[in-house]
Amino acid sequence: MTASSTPSSAGGTSASSAHTSHSGAMPPPGCPAHAGAVRLSGDEHRTDPMGVYEQLREKHGPVAPVLVEGDLPAWLVLGYRENLEVVRTPNRFSRDSRIWNSLLQGHVPEDSPLLPMIGWRPLCVFVDGAEHERLRAAVTESLAKLDRRGIRRYVTRFAGQLIDRFVADGEADLVSKFAEHLPMLVLTQLFGMPEEYGPRLVEATLDLIKGSETAFESDVFVTETVRAHVARRREEPAHDFTSLLMAHPANLDDEEVAQHLRLILISANETTTICIGNTLHLVMTDHRFRASLAGVRMTLPDAVEQVLWDEPSIMVCPARWATGDTEIGNVQVKAGDMLLLGLAAGNTDPAVRPDLTMPMHGNRSHLAFSGGPHECPGQDIGRAITETAVDVLLTRLPDVELAVADEDLVWVSSWMSRHLTELPVRFKPGSVDDTAARNVVPSQAARPERVGAVPPPGPDAEAGGPAAAGANAVAAAPAAGAVPTAEEPPSRPRKSLGARIAGWFGIGKRR
Ligand code: HEM
Repeated sequence: MTASSTPSSAGGTSASSAHTSHSGAMPPPGCPAHAGAVRLSGDEHRTDPMGVYEQLREKHGPVAPVLVEGDLPAWLVLGYRENLEVVRTPNRFSRDSRIWNSLLQGHVPEDSPLLPMIGWRPLCVFVDGAEHERLRAAVTESLAKLDRRGIRRYVTRFAGQLIDRFVADGEADLVSKFAEHLPMLVLTQLFGMPEEYGPRLVEATLDLIKGSETAFESDVFVTETVRAHVARRREEPAHDFTSLLMAHPANLDDEEVAQHLRLILISANETTTICIGNTLHLVMTDHRFRASLAGVRMTLPDAVEQVLWDEPSIMVCPARWATGDTEIGNVQVKAGDMLLLGLAAGNTDPAVRPDLTMPMHGNRSHLAFSGGPHECPGQDIGRAITETAVDVLLTRLPDVELAVADEDLVWVSSWMSRHLTELPVRFKPGSVDDTAARNVVPSQAARPERVGAVPPPGPDAEAGGPAAAGANAVAAAPAAGAVPTAEEPPSRPRKSLGARIAGWFGIGKRR
């Protein structure tokens, strides 16, 4: 089936008017393809995104017209091959949101919840070509220098410390007590931030994403914290990701470094948290995994890949924009049209997976990390954190099981992603085991020149690191200026960024 019209037929206005408060509530006139199109922000998509993708695939084929927040038109790419075609041809489908026709035509309101994700900024995610290569090389080459075994040791240590907090209880919510905390604790270590920043940044980024009343202050806290850290590293370079990024020949200025650190803290934390939660969920609910793991027929890395196929952290990835009139799949798109990568839909495309019940056996050709020049450069780290986290948890709590029926679990969904709000489990109560913490610190000290390693243990390390220091620090997290070196945040200049970001994570909605 062919959609013959495009979302871009309205008369244009100047770029300078692109951020007016124009409602932009309706698709542009003359756009039959988007008349009655499915709203990705609608209830149907929230409750059953995979069902919606299959309906769209059946009705439209591999590329379907949809509406995003504010009823702005977009094309959702559902086909596996079509997703790859889009991400692999940046000369046809750019990452530069400044060419978005809805924006140029003034249909995107200034407070659109899409803008925190899509609004152009000088980051590697928004550029193509030579500038992308410059920024991306700095990120990928700096990440490549991290010591992978060091990362796994960090995960083991922090996972052990988190488990210690609830192991005696015999029950826990693995989202709020485990998955939500682990990636950030590891990331702050890789960045070379003081250990005590971990719990504070976890709390602040969660607060920011949830769009609470203190969300804006939390965003200021995160931004000022990374800026202060960059300023400190400018004075005192060390052996960490931040220092590598600053020293890279791409010659990023301090603000570019700070913005990339902020980007990774927020996006890598969220995606990896979701991946850990989804992997734990599948391990406990899908007998293929449990039985296979026990019988050593399927390794944990294989299980993680299966999750990345079936429940990718980002289901719909924004975005690409057509650089000119072109055809993709079965539709004609116009210059400036927005295309959304349907990563979850592409992963279940019958053209590549006719039988979704067949295990993927570690096959890594899924779309969970996208593809092409912008393919996630942190995927090995995301995998390492997830695998190690689940491994440590299953080792410490071998009899762990879901404490509620699977159908009673609550999922938070948005047009971009969905994840569990809670993962209540029960297990035989155990005792605190600080073996991991004892083992990790000396090995860091033995290899101070390697990154992934980072600063010598801080004053809280002897008292048990962030797990011990956590309670008070976490409580103080969203308070602006809680990090001693961060400057007083400026007064609130605009609508809460957190509230806008909450739009694309769709916080508070139930499956
Ligand atoms: C399971 C965890 C993760 C998932 C599922 C994930 C997924 C993604 C996806 C789908 C993209 C968009 C690519 C595109 O636009 O085509 C992306 C980009 C990116 N990710 Fe990840 N990610 C994860 C973890 C991480 C980690 C741990 C880091 C860093 C340590 C990281 C750093 C980045 C960066 C810097 C980009 C932008 C790359 C560019 O535009 O060139 N991610 N990720």
